[in-house]
Amino acid sequence: MQLQEILFSQGFGTRRVCAGLVQQGFVTVAGVPCTEPAMEFIAVGLRFTVQGVAWEYHEKAYLMLHKPAGHECSQKPSTYPSIYTLLPAPIRQRGGGAAAGVQAVGRLDQDTTGLLLLSDDGKFIHRMSSPRHHVPKVYEVTAKHPVDAQQVQKLLAGVVLDDDPKPVRAAACEQTSELQLSLTLTEGKYHQVKRMIAAVGNRVEGLHRSRIGSLALPADLKPGEWRWLTVQDLASIAASAAQK
Ligand code: URA
Repeated sequence: MQLQEILFSQGFGTRRVCAGLVQQGFVTVAGVPCTEPAMEFIAVGLRFTVQGVAWEYHEKAYLMLHKPAGHECSQKPSTYPSIYTLLPAPIRQRGGGAAAGVQAVGRLDQDTTGLLLLSDDGKFIHRMSSPRHHVPKVYEVTAKHPVDAQQVQKLLAGVVLDDDPKPVRAAACEQTSELQLSLTLTEGKYHQVKRMIAAVGNRVEGLHRSRIGSLALPADLKPGEWRWLTVQDLASIAASAAQK
């Protein structure tokens, strides 16, 4: 693949900008500046730098982000900064065009923290988000009032939310302290955790997503940090999404 095409595919700008970056000597491959935009490389696994920033070619982007509080998942946020400001510009711009960049798999509210997956692979996003695939998502809930066994029972049995007569139930629910619950959901309705907790007469004071399918938020990934998913991560998350 031509070097200018590699840069373009990774989100470094239009084809013209990418050719210019190469011609101006801003791109190195294996430590050596390459000034020929049409130079051919094997893209898979290629490591290069662009204006001093180290990059590795990824045909599709799959990443995890530790979402901090006070960020919206929208590309065009209304009140708080967007989570996209936490990602490098090439990841936001991959693919060019109207629906450029990566999209979040199952958005979190601005005040919710924790594991968020992002990708520019539409099939992956659909598989991970679709209720048909039952990918379990685990939320650590801090409630305003003490949690009791009856609330846990109701969450497991199913509660009716205002816009849907069909009850929604937690796939698992465990009280972890007086004010805390670990709640597993296999669907992702709007404000689902907050509405379920309200439906049992309590209120969410803090919400953190700790796991999606087989992927747990790594302890060393700090709020605001992101990393690429590994091949192993992708294989294990694909198994969690195997159609039931
Ligand atoms: N449920 C909610 O209520 N909020 C979130 O951010 C995620 C799930």
